[in-house]
Amino acid sequence: MENANISTDAAGTDTIDASPIPSETSPNANRSTTPSSEGFKAYIGSGWAERTDALPAAREQAAFAAARRATLSARFTGQRLIVPAGSPKQRSNDTDYPFRAHSAFAHLTGWGADAEPEAVLVFEPTVAGHDATLYFRERAGRDSEEFYHNPAIGEFWIGARPSLAQVASDLELATRGIAELDAVYAAVDASTLVLREADPAVTERVDSARLRFAAEAALSTNASDSPFSIEVGSEHEPDALLAEVVSEMRLVKDSYEIAQMRLAVDATERGFNDVIADFPRISAHPRGERIVDGVFYTRARLDGNALGYDTIAASGPHATILHWTRNDGPVRSGELMLLDAGVEVDSLYTADVTRTLPINGTFSPVQRMIYEAVLDAADAALAIVKPGIIFREVHAAAMKVIAERTAEWGLLPVTAEEALLPDNQHHRRYMVHGTSHHLGIDVHDCAQARRDMYMDGVIEEGMVFTIEPGLYFQSDDETVPAEFRGIGVRIEDDILVTADGAENLSVGIPRTASAVEAWVQAGGWS
Ligand code: GLY
Ligand code: MN
Ligand code: MN
Repeated sequence: MENANISTDAAGTDTIDASPIPSETSPNANRSTTPSSEGFKAYIGSGWAERTDALPAAREQAAFAAARRATLSARFTGQRLIVPAGSPKQRSNDTDYPFRAHSAFAHLTGWGADAEPEAVLVFEPTVAGHDATLYFRERAGRDSEEFYHNPAIGEFWIGARPSLAQVASDLELATRGIAELDAVYAAVDASTLVLREADPAVTERVDSARLRFAAEAALSTNASDSPFSIEVGSEHEPDALLAEVVSEMRLVKDSYEIAQMRLAVDATERGFNDVIADFPRISAHPRGERIVDGVFYTRARLDGNALGYDTIAASGPHATILHWTRNDGPVRSGELMLLDAGVEVDSLYTADVTRTLPINGTFSPVQRMIYEAVLDAADAALAIVKPGIIFREVHAAAMKVIAERTAEWGLLPVTAEEALLPDNQHHRRYMVHGTSHHLGIDVHDCAQARRDMYMDGVIEEGMVFTIEPGLYFQSDDETVPAEFRGIGVRIEDDILVTADGAENLSVGIPRTASAVEAWVQAGGWS
């Protein structure tokens, strides 16, 4: 796709237009543009079929989103809440990354991959609680210049937008046109909160409105009667509370979310299986990691899905680099391949799974020893998961195994017990990341939750988190024997907390050393 400064003929080739609309401020003003003649405008605005505005039935998630909004409403009685979807983020020049709504917005509206950029959910306080209204840019008429001339929002460029009525029916949520947001900004007062990180443009409008409100309040003799106070220029602590609450509301998943997580994990399993089945292309290519990445992505796309994060396809020593996403190395026999990948479904729920594969089909003795230490750590962590324990205990259970094994192998200058003391932690040299994170709409879900609710929080039925211990021995680490160097192993599963324990949602993807060997051998890895 190109922008409006280039006109395109019927064959799809760019043509220079004789009567461009001048646009000196455009970074691409040197290119040709759509015509601006009155004749052209009249012609392109006519001859379009009537739109059939069939109203969709409410999507399954609508009722769940309504319940979430009720929970949020109860936490902020009497306060106006503004939760933006966000805007497209620039990749370079006039190209953006694919739009992805803020996770809290998606959670509270039920709008997922099809959410409209710049939409804003507003909770207006009422006597009974709140009225929630979704503001978004409704479709423009075909007779508008926007329709064909605006590459950012024009339907000719980015596709048809739904009508207000369609979205209201689909999400079972009141809707209004985006222009009506002006009235919301005009009403901003000290009780108004905004989810600051979601859309800087909305945050700026709210902050400006707050300044206006504060100035007016200072002039008013009744200002001290207000039940709320605002310190303009403060650290926006009330806004931070909103960010925490909407993040914490996602810690326990409802039945819809759990079903979506199962879909995402199942789709991820298909991606892993496709990678296993494509070994000839992967091993033959000088950038085999790219093929691993591409095959996993292809399966996600073939199934109509997306990815929850950039795939880590890390072969050989790249497996010791925690966030290796360049994925441009070869996949060589005798080394290990660490694949960390997760499919995101339309509702934006994502899996997050890692498997470490012996590229020739069989772990060497030292690879297997390291692999089984990591597996034992994962199993020890999984074994203690049940409602009532503290989240950090999961990490502690895994770390006990990692400390014991690295001590047994003679890697630590102290005993395992000494290493585990908070002031020591020698074993963490080989696993600097945490064992678990919550998982859901964000791969690192609930990131703004307070420590009391997250790391020090009590585990409850319905939570979903990863267990992902690893051991990573850098190629130049002189504290480990030479045969350890350049080996990285991580085993990552997605865990659902049940009434009396835990379910490993990703258990269908082989994870014991022998099962992994059989899996890759069946795929022809040799
Ligand atoms: N894939 C990112 C993570 O495992 O946390
Ligand atoms: Mn993870
Ligand atoms: Mn991962």
